[in-house]
Parts: sequence; C-alpha cells; structure tokens
Amino acid sequence: MLADKNIILGVTGGIAAYKAANLTRLFIKKGANVKIIMTPLAKEFITPLTLATLSKNPILVDFFNPENGDWNSHVDLGCWADVMVIAPATANTMGKMAHGIADNLLLTTYLSARCPVFFAPAMDLDMFQHPATIQNMEILKSFGNYLIEPEVGELASGLVGKGRMAEPETIVEAIEKYFSSNQDFNGKQILITTGPTQEMIDPVRFIGNYSSGKMGYALAEELAERGALITLISGLVAIRPKHKNIQLIPVKSAQQMLEACQLNFEHQDAGIMVAAVADYTPIAPSSQKIKKNREVLSLELKQTADISATLGKQKKSNQLLIGFALETANEIENAKEKLEKKNFDFIVLNSLNDAGAGFQSDDNKITIITRKQEIKTFDLKSKKLVAKDIADELLLAFKNLK
Ligand code: CTP
Repeated sequence: MLADKNIILGVTGGIAAYKAANLTRLFIKKGANVKIIMTPLAKEFITPLTLATLSKNPILVDFFNPENGDWNSHVDLGCWADVMVIAPATANTMGKMAHGIADNLLLTTYLSARCPVFFAPAMDLDMFQHPATIQNMEILKSFGNYLIEPEVGELASGLVGKGRMAEPETIVEAIEKYFSSNQDFNGKQILITTGPTQEMIDPVRFIGNYSSGKMGYALAEELAERGALITLISGLVAIRPKHKNIQLIPVKSAQQMLEACQLNFEHQDAGIMVAAVADYTPIAPSSQKIKKNREVLSLELKQTADISATLGKQKKSNQLLIGFALETANEIENAKEKLEKKNFDFIVLNSLNDAGAGFQSDDNKITIITRKQEIKTFDLKSKKLVAKDIADELLLAFKNLK
C-alpha cells in the first residue's frame, strides 16, 4: 500500500521524537520514499544522522544550506509528497499550523503541501487537555488534516494520562487505511467550474461578483484526494489548486468558461457547476476607457449563454451533471426548478439567508435536492467538510447510474 509513496515526515521537538526512528524504518520497509524535515528543537531529541541513515535521505531543517546557499524549496517538497505526516506534533507546532505561522521549513512545507496531512500529537496530559490545544486540533481537522489520536499511558513527566504519541505501527496503519479506503473516485474524470466571471465594460472595468471560488476549489481538492482527475475551470480568484491531480484552466468571461467546458466535458464522467456565472454581459464593450463626460451612463446588456443548461443538453446517459443554486427567496422551489430545467442529477442549494454561509465565507450550509425529490439538509460547516458531503452524494449518484 505504501510502496513508492512519497512521504514527508515532519519531526518536532518533543521526547516522542525518538519514535520517529522506528516510524521511518517502518515506512522504508513498506517501500515508501521518505524525506524528513525536523524543527530546530527536534534535533535536540534525536540526531539528524540517525534519521538520515534510516530514511536514506539528508535531513532538512533550514530554509537553505548555510555552506553553499542551496535552497530547500518547501514548494517542491509540498508538490513531491503523496502524504505528509507530522509525528510527533507538539502543541507549539499544531498551534502554528492552525494559524498559518510559517517560521520554519516544516511549517512552510505544511502550508505548501498538496497532499493529505496526518498529525500525531504528543505532549503532557494537561497540555493536551488545554482548550487552546483542543481548539487548534479542531481547526486542523476542519482544514481536512487527519488527527492520529495519542494514547493513554505513562508520560515523560511521570504522570499518567492521554498524550503519549501513537505507536509507529498505529500511525502506519492509519495512513495505509487512508490510501486503501479513500480512493473511491479512482479513474473518474470530473470537470468543475468555479469562481466568478468577469464581463468587460471597457479595458479597465468589468461586471463581476463576490464569488471567492473557495467551494469549487474545496470540492476539487476533496475529489482529487479521493483519486479523481479534475479539470478545474476557474474564474479569477485568490487561491490556487494544490493537488497534482487538478488541471487548472483559468478563464475570465462567461463565454470563455462556456468554451472551456464544451471543449472538455465530452470526456468527463461528471461536471459540477459551482461557478457564479454572470447572467448578463455588455453588448458592446468599449475598446477605449469610457470617459466621465456624461451625467448618466447606460449600459446595454445581453444574456450570457447558460453553461450548465448547455451541458445538460449535451449530457450522455453515462455522465452526471451537478448544479448549484444560490437563492435568497423560495429557495427549495427555485432550486427544484433549476434541477429540472438544466437537467442536473442533483442540485446543491446555498441560501444567502443562512448566517455564516455563502460567498467569501470559509463555511457553508447546504441542502441537496435529488432527482427523486429527496431533500437532504446539512449543518453549517467548513467548505472542506461540505465538499466531503457533496463528494459522498456524487458517489451515490455514480452507483445509481449503473
Ligand atoms: N450557471 C451556468 N451558467 C450560467 C448561469 C448559471 O452554468 N450562465 C450555473 C451555476 O454554476 C449553477 C447553476 O447554473 O450551477 C444555477 O446558477 P444560479 O446563478 O443560481 O441560477 P441562474 O440560472 O443564473 O438563474 P437566476 O440567476 O435567475 O436565479
């Protein structure tokens, strides 16, 4: 299961760092390629020489090699890895991970990693029970990182309680389980549209909207992690895809998004239409910047092509098409109407009436309406976890296709 997998093992400064030696040995025995990043303090607990010998790779600690100035690129490391494991994860490192602090190579690599991240906490029982630690672990889980629970036992302090790092065998088992069970979209090709579109008024102005693309990117990451190959057709957003199974096609206007979809949809198993596409575009965008030389300026707009309805018409019997609906009133009725009109297999309804959900937010609250008129409601949760719910519904729809 781990043969040929690229593993980054992050070792932080706690007494359980000595277990990293055995963990490395187990990974290597399973045929994995292991690169180890240590925090500066971790070197006080176990020598880099031990871990370098066991992993068959030089240990990485600093951003650059002080002797020859060679950079250790955290971005390259993040792209290289199939999985990142932080064991032991101290309270300090978890706190920094949870809040985006990037003051060592392990943390910058964590932020750059395009792969699933596992963390195995190790600390004294009171530190483990502190609300700050608990909150940080919750934040990491909401990012989609996987917690490998510590065990109960005698701790370095002599106290007995929960906080002892999981045994290396347990950590290996958790990662193997992930790779064996979590590839339920293996071989599936899925097109996702996301983000806003921009409709040109003149060379410096456009009609846009508040879509951040976060929901579509979260879905792309979730499905890619579960084995799918993703074609992500995205309007201009501030994020970028992480997983190497995601091919990004950047577009600006609704027309460009339509063309990219038509070019790519035929070979896909499913399309998920998350984008907030402009419904209207200027009939005659000006080639010169419009001057402020009149009291009132009217813009004449025409309807854009409906991308999802176009794909809905082209959809073959072995393809699925999933829509989103953003509504402010008569939510369920309007969503059901869109489901029918655009030939979706199911539709994901976002209501702008739900506090904390929707555009720009990191959270979302959705309702899924299926072809069979089932209405499934979900709690407010992070877009990463919402993506899991949508992916699970998609899997169900694939099973029903057969
Ligand atoms: N959509 C699309 N192309 C468009 C407009 C919308 O592909 N030109 C897709 C969206 O990505 C979403 C679904 O259609 O999956 C519904 O989008 P929404 O904006 O809620 O509905 P509209 O069809 O635009 O209808 P209205 O704005 O009148 O509610």
